[in-house]
Amino acid sequence: MSQKQTSYHAPSNITSLDIVNTFDLENQASQLIPKGGFDYIAGGAGDEYTLKQNIASFNQKRILPRVLADVESPDTRTTLFKSVIPAPIIMAPIAAHGLAHDSKEVGTAKGVSEYGTILSISTYTGSELEETSRVMSDTSKWFQLYMSKDNEVNKAIIDEAKADGASAIILTADATVMGNREKDKHNQFVFPFDMPIVSRHLRGYIEDRALNNIYLESKQKINAEDVRFLADYSQLPVIVKGIQSPEDAVKAIDAGAGGIWVSNHGGRQLDGAPGSFETLTHIADSVEKRVPIIFDSGIRRGEHIFKALASGADCVAIGRPALYGLALGGWKGVTSIYKYFEDDLKRVMQLAGTQTIEDIKKTKLV
Ligand code: LAC
Repeated sequence: MSQKQTSYHAPSNITSLDIVNTFDLENQASQLIPKGGFDYIAGGAGDEYTLKQNIASFNQKRILPRVLADVESPDTRTTLFKSVIPAPIIMAPIAAHGLAHDSKEVGTAKGVSEYGTILSISTYTGSELEETSRVMSDTSKWFQLYMSKDNEVNKAIIDEAKADGASAIILTADATVMGNREKDKHNQFVFPFDMPIVSRHLRGYIEDRALNNIYLESKQKINAEDVRFLADYSQLPVIVKGIQSPEDAVKAIDAGAGGIWVSNHGGRQLDGAPGSFETLTHIADSVEKRVPIIFDSGIRRGEHIFKALASGADCVAIGRPALYGLALGGWKGVTSIYKYFEDDLKRVMQLAGTQTIEDIKKTKLV
């Protein structure tokens, strides 16, 4: 049975005060978003071991409270690729926001920009890039690329992203075929392929709307040359996303990557992979602070952000919780999610005895 994509107008304007935690929010969103769309957003691959391990693995390390650290009103501000952001929390490049809310990526863009952080926008955006830019103030936008086998297509998409003002290119390297999304198969989920970038550059996808078609035209042999090509062609920092091994991080940097994005795609690709947090310290050791590290997959609490920063990340990216905020409260819901994470991080910083983001980075977890 196919899922009809109906209207999901926000029932309320949630504020950060209404968010007890992001797990509650997921439950609330599950009652609002039709099942096919919700399972696509929330689900993972196979047994969902990696999906669960992404959150569980944060418990492998602990934060030692420092109570005589002379800390008051911790400061979460930080700088990433010249953008000053209120906290080390940015938007992950999720596809198809229209599954969560009618305002699509425009709603997310406004919510993220009102908060004041960096928006990553997917090749599979449901809104035109320029529409999203119109609702943003002077906050930065990064563009996420699924590489096509056809380099002319890659160039055309990058040209579009650059014309829209993208200040970095995110190369997704971990999704050259689709993970085993069993929930989507059970639901006979129909991916909303009628999307602007897809329609202009990847027309073949629309003919047959099976979700796996996302990857049919995409490049499977991704290697260091692709990183070099994208850096040369775009003249922007290329952030390689999906890095889980120190060797790949080194390869990417040697090929000219401007950033490393530690991620296992939210447990949506290789099931049986470690929790993303388990890989972070090893990768940070190999990166040796040569380029910034962005971390995602499993961030649900301020404690998780703290632990990621203390393990070598320069910032974290939020994916699913932001879409739940969008579903429940439109753009204000998105802003609220970021405020929630910032407030939660501030509380953790106060209790852990860290005044600044640099202090967190110097903290040793136990
Ligand atoms: C996914 C792709 C589209 O995870 O990023 O579904």
